[in-house]
Amino acid sequence: MDGNGRWATSKGLKRTEGHREGAKAIDRLMDDAIEFGLKNISLYAFSTENWKRPVLEVKAIFDLLIEFINERLDNIHSKGICIQHSGSRKRIPSSALKSIDAAVAKTKKNKILTINFCLNYGSKDEILHAFNEAMKERKINRKDLSAPMKEREFEKYLYTYPLPAVDLLIRTAGEQRISNFLLWQIAYSEIFFTNTLWPDFNRDSLVDALKSYEHRVRKFGGL
Ligand code: IPE
Ligand code: MG
Repeated sequence: MDGNGRWATSKGLKRTEGHREGAKAIDRLMDDAIEFGLKNISLYAFSTENWKRPVLEVKAIFDLLIEFINERLDNIHSKGICIQHSGSRKRIPSSALKSIDAAVAKTKKNKILTINFCLNYGSKDEILHAFNEAMKERKINRKDLSAPMKEREFEKYLYTYPLPAVDLLIRTAGEQRISNFLLWQIAYSEIFFTNTLWPDFNRDSLVDALKSYEHRVRKFGGL
């Protein structure tokens, strides 16, 4: 969800206002996704690298997230949306963890659409975490620690588990890079780059991305 800051700056507003407007884009996306029958959406909300930002911006992002979840939880639940969190819990403020955990617990049986908030998420961190957890589990169960790690064993420990591999990755705001997002899960994803800034991302933007996806021929390395 890139481009919140640029959206705000271009309008003479504070960057925080861009994040606030970005939250509205998530509202639209949730409704459109349900209508179009999408099953899983992962939103890159805060990366392990975003801690480099000024403390006030970091605080504003977490405050906004708490507000976002608390204000909408009943509505999200009534729509049948399941909230998931992917990322390290380590540096997330306890107030934010409280909101996330409550949302995850309340919506865990919902089946219409999963919204996976990637928060304090970094893919390298995820892969190392998964490997370490897998080894820990082997030790606990007295399994052979030197046995080769298979995909099926490893994937269970990814933050995103049990979500499937990504079909379509959308990167907004004109940047053409992955920025440590779901590196394992996008091995064979289709990628859609758009110049649209995240707060401007609307139903038409989603339709453009889906139409592009519709024309991709996915071969997964085969013929
Ligand atoms: C993305 O928007 C939102 C977060 C990382 C939380 P940015 O804040 O990166 O917006 P730009 O890139 O400065 O425009
Ligand atoms: Mg950015």
